[in-house]
This record gives sequence, structure tokens and C-alpha cells, in this order.
Amino acid sequence: MTNVGKSSSDIVSTGIRENCKEYDSCWLRYHQALQESCLSDSGDVLKYIYYNSSGEISDNAYTELTEGIARMTGSRPACVSSLDGPCVVLMVSGMDPKAESMLSKEELRSMKAEGFLIKQVDKPPTSKLLIASKSERGLLYGVFKFMLLLTQGRSLKNIHLLENPKNKLRLIDQWDNVDGSVERGYAGRSILFSDNDLAKDKGRISFYARLLASVGINGIVLNNVNVHKEETRLIDDRIYIVRQLADIFRGYGIRVYLSINFASPIDLGSLSTADPLDKDVADWWKKRADYIYSHIPDFGGFLVKADSEHRPGPYTYGRNHAEGANMLAAALKPHGGLVIWRCFVYNCQQDWRDKATDRAKAAYDNYRHLDGWFDDNVILQVKNGPMDFQVREPVSPLFGAMEQTNMMLELQITQEYTGQQRHLCYLVPQWKEILEFDTYAASEGTPVKRVIDGSAFERANCGIAGVSNIGSDYNWTGHYLAQANLYGYGRLAWDPDLSAEEITREWISCTFGNDPAVMATISEMLLASWLIYESYTAPLGIGWMVNPNHHYGPNVDGYEYSRWGTYHRADFQAIGVDRTKAGGTGFTAQYREPNFRRFESLDTCPEELVLFFHRLPYTYRLKSGKTVIQHIYDSHFYGVEQAEQLRSKWESLKGMIDDERHGHVLSRLNEQVEHAKEWRDVINSYFYRKTGIPDEKGRIIY
Ligand code: GCU
Repeated sequence: MTNVGKSSSDIVSTGIRENCKEYDSCWLRYHQALQESCLSDSGDVLKYIYYNSSGEISDNAYTELTEGIARMTGSRPACVSSLDGPCVVLMVSGMDPKAESMLSKEELRSMKAEGFLIKQVDKPPTSKLLIASKSERGLLYGVFKFMLLLTQGRSLKNIHLLENPKNKLRLIDQWDNVDGSVERGYAGRSILFSDNDLAKDKGRISFYARLLASVGINGIVLNNVNVHKEETRLIDDRIYIVRQLADIFRGYGIRVYLSINFASPIDLGSLSTADPLDKDVADWWKKRADYIYSHIPDFGGFLVKADSEHRPGPYTYGRNHAEGANMLAAALKPHGGLVIWRCFVYNCQQDWRDKATDRAKAAYDNYRHLDGWFDDNVILQVKNGPMDFQVREPVSPLFGAMEQTNMMLELQITQEYTGQQRHLCYLVPQWKEILEFDTYAASEGTPVKRVIDGSAFERANCGIAGVSNIGSDYNWTGHYLAQANLYGYGRLAWDPDLSAEEITREWISCTFGNDPAVMATISEMLLASWLIYESYTAPLGIGWMVNPNHHYGPNVDGYEYSRWGTYHRADFQAIGVDRTKAGGTGFTAQYREPNFRRFESLDTCPEELVLFFHRLPYTYRLKSGKTVIQHIYDSHFYGVEQAEQLRSKWESLKGMIDDERHGHVLSRLNEQVEHAKEWRDVINSYFYRKTGIPDEKGRIIY
């Protein structure tokens, strides 16, 4: 499963300009025709900007505002040094006492370091719009929010809007290799690296930084979690690449992090061991940290995939993961760096005949007993589900199990198992479900979002990370509509309380404008797409019925007899894995009450996950009254019809969206419909042949 997936552009040519220097501007279009009502509402305010601070990030905020307003109104605002007339005021507290006097003590107190306040000051004709923050970063976020409000055509009259990010760490993880390939990348090559060096187009990297900052991302892990020989050198003689990238991202308030190779002391140094309790190893890492920080003083820290899928780690030396992580944390601590330690640890050499070993249990089994042992600059990064980014999985029980540990949620924006940016699958509704899932960790009402923002157990270093879905394709994400996943991820990282509907409206407004028909149609398409994808792929939470290695397309037994531990165990009578405590692997017992009992009992187990937790005969009647086998048939026929619906909805927008984007998305939807039929026919035929039970409705099954 560590094979590099093919990019969308390798597989299908859609006529889109791929791998070229130009690129689409995604949601930062600041379209001119959009906002007349709102602009007239603002009077002369938008003609002048008062800006009296300095610093790279706030200068970028000023430029963003100036250029953005210029694009939207057709005239560039002038920079003024007096506060007497109408203007937009940009203010970073501590830099400009004159502007600061517009803030009350209470307002200042309520703003956190990265937060901002947008408010109207004075009355016309001298009214002003103040964008204020305690930090340059916060000012930049405030400006992006301001531009969003203008784009949406929202009235700014009497505005008083204070926002603070809910998560401290809002990271994007690139799975980029320095040769320019991207593991699980579906949108072309890396925009960061090529030929073992920095990619040539720095302008594009800088635009990416802008895109990320516009949704509040404040950290980027530059390289793939699987750190090979060439990437190991990023903390050695290739540090100059990291430094140049840090210089670009810094201007947008984004700190850089690196995935590291736990065996670096052996691979780069002259040591014969990477044992975390060996003094020479610890000293080696200390010196290495000093070296990194001498080049990049604001370096964020390390992301570590250890003892997972053949990567080295502390288990080699009989040490546990707290010992491994804390050793690295001690090296980074004097510099303020963090260790983000992944919990994606499981036995990938399983024997499919062995029914007792359950991969779903692995993360909890490896980490639960270490709660309280990790240093305060270590954060555990946990994938949303216990398996691996399937279209449907229960939430990982580890989120409910760690009270004395910093926790981070890892999501996959890149659509490895959800259509690889060739199918439309908008993941924000899935992520909302995950974030809202009640772990019952502190008490009833401890959703995942409160574990990872640190509030449930008062942890200081917590947050969220998403595996990026971008590449060198003209449209960044292979599928124009997959841009919405990147946008939505950032918005949820900033504020997990936002609704999927709200985020969707924002993105459409910025990307396609505010036409009500366009807004309604694209919203419907996006919000329905995850469940549509689910309906024609693997049924009832079982997952994994994909082609091995690249993971695209149906293959029911693709992983069934392999070593990866991802079995559905379908035979002619039954399907599913019994993960109950009563008669199965006992995975359900990793959940707190009442989740344990809810999943344990067939009566209360959510139906969309029923085959994840229970093994059922095909003739078992679900709550819908359908048998399992009939549900499988119906859902797959329905899924294809829904994919066709997506296509006709999009067709109805012809002429309302520019031809290039319309044509490109249409070609993707055509492929999706054909491919959904492939899924339907492969899955339905498999189960028909396995069971001999005909479809009640007599439809064609092969
Ligand atoms: C999945 C994915 C790999 C990746 C791994 C990880 O298994 O297919 O490409 O390396 O997850 O998250 O470490």
C-alpha cells in the first residue's frame, strides 16, 4: 500500500492544461461583477486604506486587500496616513497606537493571538472599517475574511465580527517526494520539489501559501510521511531547500515542518543504532535540531511515521513510542519545536487465515497504555478512522481514550479511497460527522472537535492535519470541484463548528459567483456526492473493495487474501467482520459507553456501519426492511442513477459557468457515471454469484 498512486493526468487526458506554469486561481478570484450591492453599501470606505504597520505578513495582508478591492471594484484604493476620512484601517496591536485607540479594552482582551476583529467605526461620511489583530497573522486572516464578506455580497454596515481560530495547529501534510512525485497525488506532480531540488516555479508555491493562508492554515509538512533516502537528506545537505520553502511560506504565516526518518542517525550519521535511549543517538538529534534551527529559526518540528509499513522506529530496539517521541521532543524543545507522532501503526504482515488479529484495534492497542507518558511538545496524530481513510469508517476509539496526551486529527483531503479526484466526492459532510462524534471522553458531550482543540482535557498543543490534494495540474486538484475539499478542510480547521452548508456556500460564492441557480445546483451536487460515492462502492461500512496498490476501481477480493489486514470475509452465506466483544475481535470494547453498547448490539449499531461491526447473513433484514443482499443491489443501482443525476445537474449550468471549467467538470462526471456502472456491475455480480440470490426487482446482474 505504499505504492505511489497514478496522478489523474497519467490516467486520463481531459484536455485540461496540465503541468503548465499557469494555474487557476481557485477561490481567490475576487470577481469584479459580483458585488455591486455590497460595494455601493460601503460608500467611499473601500477607496482608501490606512496602513501604518510593517512586517512581511502584514505587508502581504495590505497587498491582498489592495489588489482584491482593485479587482472587485476596478479601482485601486489609495494608501492614506490619516484617520480623518473614510477608509479601511489595518491594525496590528502594539504597532500603531493611533489606530489601536479604536479598540476597547474588552475587544482587545477577547482577541487571541491569531484572531481578528472587523468592525465599523464612526458614522458616514467618515465611517471606517477596522480590521484589527494582535498579530500579523491574525491581520492576514482578518483581511481574507473581509474579502470573503465582500465576495458574498454581505453588508458591512454596523459590522462587529470577532473570530478566533478554534484549533491551535492547522496543518496541511504534503505527501511530496523530492523527485517531484506525490504519494497518493491525483493532480500532477509536486509543486514543491522536482529532480531532488526545489521546484522552479516559486510563484506557484507562493500562490499556494496564499491559498492556504486564506483559509487559516498555519503549518505545512513539506514531505511525504514515507521518508526515503533522498528526503532523509532534507535535514542534512538538502536543508537549503527547506530554508527556501520556509522563506516563501513564512510570508503567509505558515511554519514549515518535515517528515523525518527515525533511522537518520544511521543513514546520515556514523552511528550503528537509532535506539532512542542511546545517549549518542539523543546527542545526534540535539545537534541535528541545532543545525536545522540555525537555518530556519521558526521551524515547526517533525512529523514521524515510525514502526509502520516498514518504516523504522523504536520497536526495533525494544523501546516504546513514548520513548521514541520524547527523545526527539527533547532535541526540539529548546527551539520551541514540536514532534507530531503518527498513530498509524499496525501489523502489515498479517495472515488472512488468522481471524483473531484485527487491524482496527491496532492504534488503540499501541497507544492507549502510553497516555500520560508523552512530553508536552509531543502530539499524537490519529487518522479519523481505525483503518485508513475509507469512504465510511467509525471514528477511531483512540480519540476517546487519551486524557493526558496532546491529540491531533488526521484527515485525507486527497481522495485516495474516495474517487481519486476523478469522481466528485465532497468530504466536508464526512469530516463534520467525525468532528461531531461524541467520544464521551470527559463526559457526555465530548465530541472529537473538543478533544483535538485541546479544550476537553486542557491540552496546550493540539489540532488538525489534512493530507493535501494539490499538484501541478492547471486546476490544482485534478477536478475543479475537488478544490472545495481543500477549502472546506481549511475552514473546518479554523472553525469545526461551521456547518457543511455554510462552507459550501462560501466556496461556491468565491469560485463561481452568487447566481442563485448556480449556488443551489452546485451546493446540492457537493453535499450529496459523498453518500452517492458510498452507495455505488463498498457496502455498509465494510470498505476496501478496491484494486490493490493504486486503490482505484472495484476489486472485491483485491485485498482479501493479502497481508494488509483489511478483510470483508464474504462467503456464500454471510459477510462482515464480527468485531463485538461478545463473539468477535473485541474492537467494540475500545469505545467508551454508551458507544461500546451502541456498536456492540445489532439493534443499535448504525446501519451504515453494520458490516464493519457485525457479520451478517445475506438474508438478514435491515431496519429498512430489506435484506442485506437486496440492500447491496438497490444501493448500487441507486448510486449509478444518482451519479447520472449529478451529471444532468451540472449540464443544466451550461452557459452559466465558463466553458473551460464547465467542460472539464463534465468530462469528469462522464467518467464518474461510466465508472459507477463498473462498480455497480462488479459488486452486484460478485454477490449474486456468491449467493445465488436474485435481485427482487429483476434488473440485469451479470
Ligand atoms: C495508506 C496509504 C499510503 C500511506 C499510508 C500512511 O496506507 O495508502 O500511501 O503511506 O496510508 O498514511 O502512512
